[in-house]
Formats: sequence, structure tokens, C-alpha cells
Amino acid sequence: MRTTIGIIGAGPAGLLLSHLLHLQGIDNVVLELRSRSYIENRIRAGVLEHDVAGLLRDSGVGARMDREGLLHHGTILRFGGRSRRIDFQDLTGKSVMVYGQHEVVRDLVARRLADGGDLRFEVSDVSIHDIQTDTPSIRFTENGETKTLHCDIIAGCDGFHGICRPSLPAGFIRDFDRIYPFGWLGILAEVSPSSEELVYARHPNGFALLSMRSPTIGRFYLQCPPDENADTWSDDRIWSELHTRLADNEGFRLTEGPIIQKGVTAMRSYVAEPMQSGRLFLLGDAAHIVPPTGAKGMNMAIGDVAVLARALERHIKHKDSQGLDTYSRTCLRRVWNVQRFSWWMTSMLHNFADANAFDEQVRLAELDYVTTSRAAATTLAENYVGLALG
Ligand code: FAD
Ligand code: DHB
Repeated sequence: MRTTIGIIGAGPAGLLLSHLLHLQGIDNVVLELRSRSYIENRIRAGVLEHDVAGLLRDSGVGARMDREGLLHHGTILRFGGRSRRIDFQDLTGKSVMVYGQHEVVRDLVARRLADGGDLRFEVSDVSIHDIQTDTPSIRFTENGETKTLHCDIIAGCDGFHGICRPSLPAGFIRDFDRIYPFGWLGILAEVSPSSEELVYARHPNGFALLSMRSPTIGRFYLQCPPDENADTWSDDRIWSELHTRLADNEGFRLTEGPIIQKGVTAMRSYVAEPMQSGRLFLLGDAAHIVPPTGAKGMNMAIGDVAVLARALERHIKHKDSQGLDTYSRTCLRRVWNVQRFSWWMTSMLHNFADANAFDEQVRLAELDYVTTSRAAATTLAENYVGLALG
């Protein structure tokens, strides 16, 4: 088999890259470990930056997002019993789109298949070869048969636990890593959201987030130990803790409903540098992850896609390799800005076991400042709605 770009992984990064390349007339094949149904039902991110929503719209896969997604013009920060709104529209002229990552994945899969795209689900034993030559290849097993996909370039979009990054020679990658001493218990519930906008709450018991997927489905997160077993959280315990942590002194009332899913995510900041070696380019979680506070992981993945799609177009259509040569440097500048923001939001909003009373007061002062100074609020808003893509 032969194609121009071999893409490993059908998450948001791999699927969008495949779609954008197709629009440029560039041939590609996507290889995915899991089934179509698995990737279409995996609940993860929920917030799209302004320019990310724009990219989906401009590339013709935003119609359902515009119909069903919820445009949010601001968000609430809650601390010390107070609720303070950050007005994105007023501060930046931009908004974010609340639309589940699995919905983005569904839209992209549907469009790739309608366009005759070559997406292969449930492949196994994926390995990459000869990336330092002009003739790299991907070997994989499909329906019990070993196959080889020859290509010009390999896009490693296989997430944090994929095979692309570990396939690079030992010592080639420099890792930057921070592991946080807590995780998030994520909860999906059949309940209409008790707030029109997301609520990020700092509380002595730990962080809580009120989010949503639709007018009838609520999404919540609770700070918990990193190795927590979600089964130790009964529905009563979850609602009781959400009531406590999300309460304010200004009349907020939380509505309860049936819990339909729960799970624990560990929190980590990680960057691999560089994001390219020879003919292998790493995108999205394969190269970097952030703690979820600030809703950046998927958006950062899509930022890489925007850079690589443009560079590949120049390389393949105009024989100009400058964009490919600077791919890693271009992406990493944005990646480190996003890392900084995610780390800052996480530090400001969570409880750290080793923090003392002084640290606590400084964090409350920071929240007070960021919600009362227009300059500080603008910094938060500008990062939240998203820095320029690529
Ligand atoms: P992935 O989505 O991980 O896709 C990688 C794909 O590669 C997967 O389909 C996987 O099955 C496949 N794969 C793996 N190994 C192989 C292999 N060997 N061969 C072939 N295929 C393989 N981000 C935000 O922007 N906003 C948020 O609000 C947000 N909230 C989050 C909440 C939670 C609970 C979690 C867990 C994450 C959240 N994120 C958020 C992060 C976001 O989900 C990820 O950053 C995003 O999925 C990255 O996309 P990706 O395409 O790079 O990787
Ligand atoms: C969601 C996740 C986040 O990490 C966040 O900051 C906001 C919303 C969500 O899943 O809805």
C-alpha cells in the first residue's frame, strides 16, 4: 500500500489533519487501534477555543457544532463564597464553543467517510520504520494480516500512550514533566445545567467545575486523589460534595439528576522536544499534555494540526520545505504558552496538600486580583478563548 501522509491515530488531531489534507488534494490514510464506536463515545474535552471553532467551521465540518454547540461569552470563578464573572466578549471580542470532543470526532469521521477517506479502525501491532530516510513506512495488522503502508511522511497523532514518541531513538527527545498530586473525578449527569456558564470553583475541600454538554446533560469535575477509585464515590457522595464545593453566598442552587458516567483522570503537564525527527512529526497528546484546568488539550492538538497542514501543503504542492523545517519550533512556542496557562489555572484553583496558610492567602489574592483588575482579567480571557493558531 502507498499514500502520501500516513496518519497514526484517529483522535481529533489525526482526523482533522486527514480532513484538511484531503481538502488540499493530499492523499492520506488513518490507522486507529480502537473501533469507530469506541472513539465516537469516549467522553473527554468540552470547550473549543474561538479560532478552533472557526477552523472547523471554515473547513466545512462546523454545521452541527453551530446548531448544537453552546456559545459561551464568559465564565464564572467562584472562591471564598463569591462568584465573579470573566466576560470574554467584553475583554477580547471572542467567545468559546462548548461542544464535546466526541461530537467533533463524530463529525470528522462522518465527513471523512462521506468524502471517501481511508480510515482503518481496529488495526493492531502498529510500528514505524525508516523515518530517517525518504521512504518511511508503517507496519500494522488488519484482520489478522500484516500490512505495510509506504508513505512520504508519518504524522504521529496517537495520543500520550501511543507508539510514535517512544519509537524515537533513546536520548533524542528531551522531556519536560510535572505530575500533580491530585486527579479529577469526571461526572456526566442527566440534568440541565444550573448555571448558564461554566463555574470554576476553589473550595477548602478542593476544586470543582460545573460544565455541560447540552441543555439536558451536565458535566462536572471534582478534585480527588490521583489514584482514586471512582467506585468509592456513590451518587449521594458526589452530589453532596458538588453542593459543598460549588456553593456561594449569592444564591446559587445546584440541581441534581441521574449520574450516567464517572471516571478519574490523573493530572500532568508534559512536553517532548523536538516534535519532529526525520519524516516523523508528532502532534497533539503524542507530544504534549496539560492538566485539564483551562480546557486546552484538544485545542493545543488542533493548533499543531493547523501548523502541519499548512506546512505539508507548501511542501507537497510548492516544493517548499520551510514550514516543515520550522514545524517543531513554531508549535512549541504556542505549546509553552498554553502549558504556562494550564499550570497557572491549575495552581490557582486547586488545593495542594503541602500548601500552608500563606500559600492559601496568596491564591485567594490572585483570584481576587484576576477578577477585579481589567488587565489581569484580560490575560485570563485572552488565553482561555485561545491564542492565535500557529
Ligand atoms: P487522542 O484523542 O488521545 O487520540 C489518539 C488516538 O490514537 C486515539 O484514538 C487512540 O486510540 C489512538 N492510538 C493510540 N495508540 C495507537 C496506535 N499504536 N496505533 C494506532 N492508533 C493508536 N482538552 C481540551 O482542549 N478541553 C477540555 O475541556 C478537555 N477536557 C478533558 C477532560 C478529560 C477528562 C480528559 C481525559 C481530557 C481532556 N482534554 C481536554 C484533553 C483532550 O481530550 C486531549 O488533549 C485530546 O484528546 C488530544 O487529541 P489527540 O488527537 O492528540 O489524541
Ligand atoms: C471541560 C473540561 C475542562 O477541563 C474545562 O476546563 C472546562 C470544561 C468539560 O469537559 O466540559
